[in-house]
Amino acid sequence: MCEETSNIITAEPEINRGYLEVPLENIKPKYFSKMSIYLKKDNNYSLYCDADYYFSDSDRRRLLENHVNIVYVSAKDSKRYYRNMENDMSDILKSKKLNAQFKSNILYSTNLALAEELMEKPPESDQVRRAQDMASNTLDFVLNESKALQHLTNISYHDGYSSSHIVNACSVASALAKEIGMTDHEIMEAISRGAILHDVGKSFISSDILDSKLELSFEDMDTIRSHVKHGYNHLSTMGFIAPNVMHYIMQHHERLDGSGYPEKLRGGDITMFGRIGGIVDSFEAMTSIRPFREKVLSIEDAMQELRNQSPEKYDRDIVNIFCNMIERTLFDTVNDDSDAHDGVLIKTVDNVELTDRRRHPRHYFRVSAELCPIIKAGDKLRLGPAEKVIVHNISRSGVGLLSSRPLDIDQNICLKFLREKPAIPDLTGVIVRKLLHSDGWHTLGIKLHKILSEEMVSTIVS
Ligand SMILES: [Fe+2]
Repeated sequence: MCEETSNIITAEPEINRGYLEVPLENIKPKYFSKMSIYLKKDNNYSLYCDADYYFSDSDRRRLLENHVNIVYVSAKDSKRYYRNMENDMSDILKSKKLNAQFKSNILYSTNLALAEELMEKPPESDQVRRAQDMASNTLDFVLNESKALQHLTNISYHDGYSSSHIVNACSVASALAKEIGMTDHEIMEAISRGAILHDVGKSFISSDILDSKLELSFEDMDTIRSHVKHGYNHLSTMGFIAPNVMHYIMQHHERLDGSGYPEKLRGGDITMFGRIGGIVDSFEAMTSIRPFREKVLSIEDAMQELRNQSPEKYDRDIVNIFCNMIERTLFDTVNDDSDAHDGVLIKTVDNVELTDRRRHPRHYFRVSAELCPIIKAGDKLRLGPAEKVIVHNISRSGVGLLSSRPLDIDQNICLKFLREKPAIPDLTGVIVRKLLHSDGWHTLGIKLHKILSEEMVSTIVS
């Protein structure tokens, strides 16, 4: 397909397709409260009912009977949609009708919407209470569902946004609490809650500094480091955060040899909550794209880094348990099977030929590329205008990237890597996942049309 399309470039009108797709099966009508619902036909969206109409369960059933399984809400309503769902999360996660991947999709997406609220500006106490409740939901899901971390990882974003970072940290920290063999629910809950709140202090810091692509000055570094105290002070005033949650927040950048911050604590002065926080935070940060860092570590390299730095900086026993958990639950079982993605943000793509459904390890890296939509014009395929993107993970069957362009799910694309040595052929695929960020950037998940060889993946990540 790429050869066929690579020669002809035409201009495509810029259309902002800011819609969130919602599968109707197993969704309660009240989640659509006060928002317009759209249907999609031939790539066009049409209004099904406006915000004043009360969408009832009989409307939902009628659509399903007419084989309309997916409806759309405007991206501007997506936060409210997840907010409506948040109140039911505990019941949703306990439901016997829903499968684990579906629950994971809803949990992750709802956590992410809430995390964007937490990081946008210093959160108010009701937002912090909601975050604590969602962390507890995440913990309960991890405790009750044997492959919870695997499912959550399947759909996790590693795009470097603080919101995805704290959501991933919450999933991983909850799973680690279980893996350590803790039995005290309150202690485990403090770990989950600490993880979702640990970087809340970054909401006090200008995005010009947080997202700067330039090397940071000492002053800027100090400003970023101040997020720990900002978060601690802000949450302290609320008066309802458990001391162990505060330990996690205050100590997640402390290191056993005293090289951390803000208090340069050493050894036994760092609580178990701070030690867990440091390991989870570092691992998550190492495997996520960062504006000021060219290199994103693979999962293997990030684990090696943690091992190399323990016991000097990290608690060796916890690192060992953590790495065993990651190796067993994440690295060996990460897969890009799109069938598993049928859910809130993601839908199964029927027109992709999957010749190989084996599980493929996902590699984290960072490379610039150009992304072109593939447009059908009569019998011919053409490439639309190129957009610079940052590719940050790849497996044999899929690619994750950041784009400032609002492309649509189901859009076929061609990806042209900008690196000349070693040469990388153009890749084609289809967008199966999309996340809109408040700053206008989009995290996209691409399912490749052709499974890559292991050698090709090694070439691309080298
Ligand atoms: Fe932090």
